[in-house]
Amino acid sequence: MNNGQDISKERIAAELDHSRRRSLGLTLDALDDEELLAQHSPLMSPLVWDLAHIGNYEEQWLLRAAAGREALRPDIDHLYDAFENPRAERPGLPLLRPQEARDYNERVRREVLDALDGVDLTVPAPRRPHDPAGPPGLLDAGFVYHMVIQHEHQHDETMLATHQLRRGAPVLLEEAPAVAPLRPPAEAEALVPAGPFTMGTDDDPWAYDNEKPAVTVDLPAYLIDTAPVTNAAYREFMEDGGYQTRRWWSRDGWEWKEKRGALAPAFWEREGGGWSRRRFGRRELVPPDEPVQHVNFHEAQAYAKWAGKRLPTEAEWEKAARFDPATGRSHRHPWGDAEPTARHANLGQRRLGPATVGRHPDGASPLGVHQLIGDVWEWTSTTFHGYPGFRAFPYREYSEVFFDSGYKVLRGGSWATHPTAVRSTFRNWDLPIRRQIFSGFRCARDAEPA
Ligand code: AVJ
Ligand code: FE
Repeated sequence: MNNGQDISKERIAAELDHSRRRSLGLTLDALDDEELLAQHSPLMSPLVWDLAHIGNYEEQWLLRAAAGREALRPDIDHLYDAFENPRAERPGLPLLRPQEARDYNERVRREVLDALDGVDLTVPAPRRPHDPAGPPGLLDAGFVYHMVIQHEHQHDETMLATHQLRRGAPVLLEEAPAVAPLRPPAEAEALVPAGPFTMGTDDDPWAYDNEKPAVTVDLPAYLIDTAPVTNAAYREFMEDGGYQTRRWWSRDGWEWKEKRGALAPAFWEREGGGWSRRRFGRRELVPPDEPVQHVNFHEAQAYAKWAGKRLPTEAEWEKAARFDPATGRSHRHPWGDAEPTARHANLGQRRLGPATVGRHPDGASPLGVHQLIGDVWEWTSTTFHGYPGFRAFPYREYSEVFFDSGYKVLRGGSWATHPTAVRSTFRNWDLPIRRQIFSGFRCARDAEPA
């Protein structure tokens, strides 16, 4: 065990297997070849590209880099390089066919598991970026395996966004949601006291380079919503003329809205006097008490302004999620350092959507903030950047090339995010116009001076 995280080889093998079953459930088990090869939206890759890209990434990092084995298919590296091939162009590439992609992935996986026995994962913890003992190693505390497991789950979430955009009969099954108590937060906002807290991490064996190094951040007092903004609340904004009122929107936001003619979150349609939504091929009334989903940064920002509030900075989000005022410590998750369970958070595609507000009281933070992890990714006001002392590891293209270029940080993971791929330090990012992702938000505001 390391920092509450089991880094045994058995755990790694089990997580690798788990992510692969999930990927197959979203591809070969769900759709025929034609649908796997099709591009369901120019925003997304054909699903068969994601599938072989997952295998190719695993080949590059676990076979070649970690185990020092010879390349199996260096000839296809360029096809599955995300930077060489913009999403819109991927359908035109000579991609592996669905069965070929599956066979290739299986071949890679067999060799990875074979090599795992001989790999040394004994380095106790990842090193700090500027540790005098030298730079961090790929294998430290199992880092590169964790990176590949999370990569596959991240693509599974991306593939779910493709499924959501796809037209046609439903193909994804929804596990019956566990019956959990409904205990909504007693207060609408929580007061986060002024003072320093630890943001980011030095020693989490699953953390990416962009979560490091840990840094002390001193924030003035602020208020943050104890729950994400719901569909009902968002409808009030819409019905108050939110989409027609220039002053709630930034210049870029208004420009996006005018050009798109947006009047509601993505996938919403008018139905009688109300609204329905399309969700994985099913049409249903918009449930009032769920976090709003499929809004972009501009819509979130406009709502917050209308509400007399603002979006939290990512530091404010993280402090609300990690800081325990009783001890002054930052935890890995709002509820503490224990790994997420179904009781704590709506993660891992158990449902195909967010949970009603109040469904996860056991996942609340010490400050009484609910549903920070899971349900919907939450937009923050912060542009994606490197923390002071940032060092790219193990490759610049994971995060560094996106720094300071207008990507906004999202926090907390969604219902589609796997528990291994999120923690209170985890940083996601996307362009402010994107809303095919499982994104929502909560608001914050400055505390009144005492
Ligand atoms: C961290 C979700 C923004 O999907 O672009 C996948 C994750 N990086 N393959 C993305 C990623 C390389 C990344 N996000
Ligand atoms: Fe990728």
